Parts: sequence; structure tokens; C-alpha cells
Amino acid sequence: MISEVILPHNQYISESDVPTVESSDDNKKFPKSEYKKLIVKIDSPLNLAESVLLTKIHKKFSKNGFQMDIQEFEIVLYLHSIDLEAFKTYIHGLLSTTSPELVDKTVFLNIIEKISRIKSYGIKGGKRFYVTYNDERKVENRQSKVTKRGLYYYAQKNNFSKVNTPLPEKYENLVICRDSEEVLRQLPDNCIDLIITSPPYNFGLGYDTSKDGVNWERYFQKLFEIFDECIRVLKYGGRIIVNIQPLFSDYIPSHHIISNHFMEKKMIWKGEILWEKNNYNCKYCAWGSWKSPSSPYLKYTWEFLEIFSKGDLKKEGLPENIDINEDEFKKWVVAKWSIAPERKMVQYDHPAMFPEVLVERALKLFSFQGDIILDPFNGVGTTCAVAKRLGRKYIGIDKSQKYCSIAKRRVKEILPGTN
Ligand SMILES: C[S@@+](CC[C@H](N)C(=O)[O-])C[C@H]1O[C@@H](n2cnc3c(N)ncnc32)[C@H](O)[C@@H]1O
Repeated sequence: MISEVILPHNQYISESDVPTVESSDDNKKFPKSEYKKLIVKIDSPLNLAESVLLTKIHKKFSKNGFQMDIQEFEIVLYLHSIDLEAFKTYIHGLLSTTSPELVDKTVFLNIIEKISRIKSYGIKGGKRFYVTYNDERKVENRQSKVTKRGLYYYAQKNNFSKVNTPLPEKYENLVICRDSEEVLRQLPDNCIDLIITSPPYNFGLGYDTSKDGVNWERYFQKLFEIFDECIRVLKYGGRIIVNIQPLFSDYIPSHHIISNHFMEKKMIWKGEILWEKNNYNCKYCAWGSWKSPSSPYLKYTWEFLEIFSKGDLKKEGLPENIDINEDEFKKWVVAKWSIAPERKMVQYDHPAMFPEVLVERALKLFSFQGDIILDPFNGVGTTCAVAKRLGRKYIGIDKSQKYCSIAKRRVKEILPGTN
């Protein structure tokens, strides 16, 4: 150990300058044994300058329940909660005003990295909580209870083959103008990684060629013929994401009817995303009974994305093909996405497009780069355009010649990998 070092500004420090750290209220409340413990290895014992910096950091953050034991070849950290951004800024600030000859920066950067890598925490007031954040959720013997209840019991004993097939090259990166049931019948089993689509909602919208607004039974019959083909062509572990808005005024819960169909076909319900469009236009007009419980009519500013997996909730993929970053992942796994409705519908001449941002989030969260993405109700090619931009392969199918021509033009203009 060095007993005396010189800091910038010609400031001498000695062992007596090392600040002392008093225990905080949090430290008193929670025994250290309950803290999240991390060990950061060090190659050699810390010098005095390093000890001073570490103790400053310790002192600054100890009131959040940040404890530290400095030993000869390791620093043991105990975390209750921390404002990670403030922590990083403080450390980088200290390092930038300290001579690089005096301290080994890697010690400090390793501490930041180790803490950043902790995946399991709660968030409150900008702080990450490592202790007590899921106390209210603790269930004793969780695993045996899960087994007893029967995890996705409706999807057990399926007949899905686990053997995936390559998609014939002639279908790669193609916009196809035909009825999707007919096209899908030509594809082999288990060749698509992810399907994302928004079928016609049967609201009576004026699509170019297809009739929207037919008898509901006929509507679901045709839809399910296409969805059954979708299930067949999905790879084992592949996903289908269906964006749907029920027609509330007909009291038809399309999102439940579609979900039930997938479950009957032994697909695993992976989850549901609420696409909050903040579409307040519809909020203040009144149908149903006004100011009376006789028959109030509920209003919705959102749509649904129903997500199903074939055979397995986990999907195969190489780590180098992941393109979602830490911040995106943290935000997007919270299943309420606030995204404005698409504004380019007039430009692309389509009445019911979904926004590129919606597809971008879904692709990054549920697929890998290089995966094959299918949209059987492709419209003007939002799915294909985003898939190409994010380095995925695509197939888009739509009945309308007009929409397909627009889609082809749109996709052509996209530069791949412009994430
Ligand atoms: C809600 S729109 C999809 C819009 C698309 N998500 C976009 O962003 O452009 C539904 C599309 O399904 C197409 N469609 C309807 N029935 C079809 C069928 N049987 N086969 C292929 N396409 C069909 C319609 O032409 C319409 O463009």
C-alpha cells in the first residue's frame, strides 16, 4: 500500500483522509445478509488513492443501502437499492478529475458493469431495488404449485413436429398478390419464424378488393382457415402476433374468439400487448344510455396484440442476432405500448395500416436478425418494410393488386440494416 499519494491540483492525501461511512437507516432496517451480494475481483490490493475514491463512492451512496467490504483481492458489494444513473455519473466524474496514473480505472468500471448486469430488480423513483421488491409476490413452493395447476394445460399433448424446414428460396423477400390461404398451402410445414399481422376487422372498411363487413360466422371461418395454415407453416418455437380490435358496437370480442381458436389448436398463449393509440376522438361522443346505468356504452382508445407460440415458449436464435438493446427491452416488456396511429394512410392509400414503430418493437422483442417474417394480410407492406430494415427476411401476402404494388415500391426504397 502507498501511504501518501498526490492527487491532481497537488493535493496530498494520507490514510487519515479516507472518509468514514456511517450506517444509514436502510442499513439498520435490513440485515446485510438480505442484500444483493456481488463480488468484484481485483488483481492487486487497492492503493490509497483507489481506497479514497471507493470510500467516497461508498459514503455518497450508503444512505441508499449500498455497502462495501474491501478485501485484499476482492471488493464485496451489498446492494439494497441504487440510482444507477447517478452512481455512474458520480464515478465517471471522480475518475475524470483523478490522475490516471494514480488509480486503476478498471476496478471502478467493473463495479459499474457488475451492477448494470443484474437483471432482477424493482424500480421506484428512478432507483433500482434489489431487496424486498417482490416481497408481496412471494409464493411458497411456487414450482410445485405451478405443476399442480398445469402450465398451459390447453396446449399440452400437441402433435407439432419439432423438425423445422428451410423456406424455399423462391419465397424469400417476396410480396405476393393472392388469397393468402392459397399461397400458404404451398409452403412447407415449420418454415416461418414469426408471423405478425393485422387481419381485416370486419368493420366495413373500404379495402381495395376484399369485402370487409360480412356475416361474423363467415368472417371467422375464412380467418381461421388462414390462421390454421399460419400455425402449420410456423417453426417449432415460432410465434404469431395478431393485431386486432373487436367491434365493440356489435358486441363481438374478436380478440377472445381468435385467442380461443389458437388455444383450441394447442398454441401457447404467450401474452397480450395493449396498443394504446390515445385515440381520444372517440372518447366524448355518446352512444348507449347517457348518464344512466340502463346501458352505458364503453369506449376504448386501444387495440390488442395477441401473441401465441407454437410448441415452446422459447425460440432458437444466436446471441449475435439479437438487436434489441437494454433500454428497449426494459420498456417493451411492459405490455402497454403507447404508439400513435399511423399517419401515412392517405400517402399509401390504405385505410387500416399499423404503424412501423409497432412492428419494429414486435420484431426486435420476438425475433432474431435473419429470421423469416410473414404477414398474410400484408396491406401496403408495413411488416415487409420493417423486416427488411431490421435485417430479417420477409414474405407479405395480400389479395389486392393495388396494395401489393404500393408495398413493393415501399420495400424497394428501404435500405437493409438501417436500424
Ligand atoms: C388491416 S389490413 C392490413 C394492413 C397492413 N397491416 C398495413 O400496415 O398495410 C388487412 C389487409 O388484408 C387484405 N386481405 C383481406 N383478405 C385477404 C385474403 N384472404 N388474402 C390476402 N389478403 C387479404 C386486405 O386487402 C387488407 O389490405
